[in-house]
Order: sequence, then structure tokens, then C-alpha cells
Amino acid sequence: MRTHNIAVIPGDGIGPEVMDASLLVLAAAESAFGFTAELTQYDAGARHYLRTGELWTSELEERLRGHDAILFGAMGDPAVKPGILERGFILAMRKAFQQAVNLRPVKLYPGVATPIAGLTPERCDLVIVRENTEGAYVGQGSTVHAGTPYAVAVQESVNTRPGIERVVDYSFRLAASRRGKLTLCHKKNILIEAGNLWQDTVDDLSARYPEVEVDYVHVDAMCFHLPVAPERFDVVVTDNLFGDIITDLGAVIQGGLGVAASANLNLDGSAPSMFEAIHGSAPDIAGKGWANPVGAVLSTAMCLAQLGEQDAALAIEAAAVQVLAGLPELSGPGMGTDTAGLGKEIAALVGAGLPPVAGRSVMEDLAGLKAT
Ligand code: IPM
Ligand code: MN
Repeated sequence: MRTHNIAVIPGDGIGPEVMDASLLVLAAAESAFGFTAELTQYDAGARHYLRTGELWTSELEERLRGHDAILFGAMGDPAVKPGILERGFILAMRKAFQQAVNLRPVKLYPGVATPIAGLTPERCDLVIVRENTEGAYVGQGSTVHAGTPYAVAVQESVNTRPGIERVVDYSFRLAASRRGKLTLCHKKNILIEAGNLWQDTVDDLSARYPEVEVDYVHVDAMCFHLPVAPERFDVVVTDNLFGDIITDLGAVIQGGLGVAASANLNLDGSAPSMFEAIHGSAPDIAGKGWANPVGAVLSTAMCLAQLGEQDAALAIEAAAVQVLAGLPELSGPGMGTDTAGLGKEIAALVGAGLPPVAGRSVMEDLAGLKAT
């Protein structure tokens, strides 16, 4: 029996709701595909912080390190000042576990409403590889003369050749296994030093991957091309902050934040990877059952793909897409059901032998790259 030892961090707001729905789906996949997920729940996030003062601790780090993977709900609450949990927990985890790549697919599934008129699933199937440990997210900076009319804020962005190289190399391998096209997204006409380091790295590594066509798009132009011509892109590799921004745009194109999934991948096997929906804790709708759990469910599927359970991952994707296509609205009271109800519907279809979703799946990408 294959056993996967998975940490579960539901967090705050809608995090626990979408996590509960995902775990129903995971349980269905275990019985349909013959593996065991041993789950350990960890209490962390805003409530835990307000009660204990604890964020990311070395003790938690040590316990989490022993797991094969981490499923993460969402974190954040109006009672905690912005930045505390983000820096103190989420970014701390991504850095401590060297989750170098943040993999965010932008795939319009059949039957899902997109705000982009005339867009079809065949034209929208790409993956954004966001650098996940550096750039503006290093958290360095300082303010001189704070609180005076002469205040000076310096906020650094750190770019290292090894940090860039590992995500660019991953992106080339990913592109080679997909449609063979890699686009670097940056702002090298303005952020010249960082942009050149990214471009040089792409140019140098492209010699190793002659089969991959290389392209470059400025991040502002990306905001234009991504909605109107997503077919131009197969794999997009980009800096941490640009990746944060353009993946929200990508999420909207594929039906909203409720359906967008992500994988924070450790590439060297030194620590677990972490899987989370792109949406936040959405405290305004917490407890109402209005959150769409599909982003979390697909993130769970990505986790299984990464753990080698490709068939289960593809079955979850197919089940989620079938349920998604039947929803009158993608989130809120108009979904016709609630978060838990959607989890049950998807879980019921996981073992039904549905055909996989048309086109290349990120589940195959993850399983394939893991094996190489
Ligand atoms: C994301 C989120 C996070 C980020 C926040 C919550 C730290 O926006 O995963 O995209 O900025 O990376
Ligand atoms: Mn974001």
C-alpha cells in the first residue's frame, strides 16, 4: 500500500471550508486509487497567532519537514495587521522549505464562464512559473526619517543567479514536455540590472534546450496579451512580484480566484512542497459556504500528482471540471449549492471513471517532471 504522509494547515477564513471540501475529495481518491494519505492537522494562522503570539516557529518547521507534502488553506484576518501572517508565516514557509517554484496553471476548462468574450479552452492552456523565494519578497528594506515629511523608504528586490537559474531550468524542462515554448516575462527596459540577469540566464540555458522556442514579453504588455491572446503562451517564467500580479489576472481569465490552483515546489528534495489555492482567506464570506473549493481541490490534485499519484490527480481534475461546468455561478450564493456540497459532488465523481479533461494536464506535467 502506498502511503503519503501529508500535513494539513487549514488556516483562517474560508481556508478551513475549502480544506474540508478538499479532504472529502482526497478520501474518495484514496479508496478509488488504492493509496493512503496519513493526515496531520496543524493549527496556525490568525486565530492561533492572536491566542499564542506564534507565527512560523522552528519547532513547527521541524515537524512539517518530516511530511511528504503540505496542504495549505488560506491565512489572514482583519484582526491581524496586513503583512504579519504573510511575511511571518507564508513567506517564511516558502523560504524555509526552499519552495523555489510557484507553479500556477492558467487553463480555461470546458463549460466554465470566462469574462473574456469568445475565449475557448483550446486557446487558454498555459502554466506560469513564478520565482518564489526572492525578488521583492525577500522582505528587505528600510525607512529613514520615518514619520517625518522627509521619510525615505527603500524596498529592495534581490535577484540571484542560482535563484533564477533553478526556476528557469525547471521552466525549460516543463516547456520541453509541453508545447515547447518558454516566455520570459519581466520589465527589462526599466529594471535593467535584474532584467538582464533574468534574460542572460534564459539565453544561457536555452543552449541546453534547443527544442524550446524562447520569447520575451514585458510585464505590462503581458497584462494585455494574457487576456486577449493566451494562446501565445505555453510556459511563462517570471519574477516573484510580477508572478504574483499576473497570476491573479490569469485566475480571472480561467473563471475567477475560486478555481485557480498552485504548487509551491521544493526542487531539491530537502523539504516538502506546499499546495494552496491562489485565493486568500476572504474573511467577508467566511462561514457562509459561498467559497468555491475547486482551487483548493485542484491544488490537492497537484499535490497527488507530485507524490506520483497521477491517475488520482487526473480523476480529481476531471471530476472537479464536470461539477464546475454545471454551476450557474462560480462562487457566492448563486452557486446553487455550498462549499461542502461541492466537495461532496466532486468526491462522488472521483471514482466514476470519467475521461480526463482534454488537452495537456498540469497533473501530467508535475508527475512527469518529478520522475525525470
Ligand atoms: C499569493 C498571495 C501571497 C503572495 C500573499 C498572501 C503572501 O498573494 O500566494 O499569491 O503575495 O505571494
Ligand atoms: Mn497573490
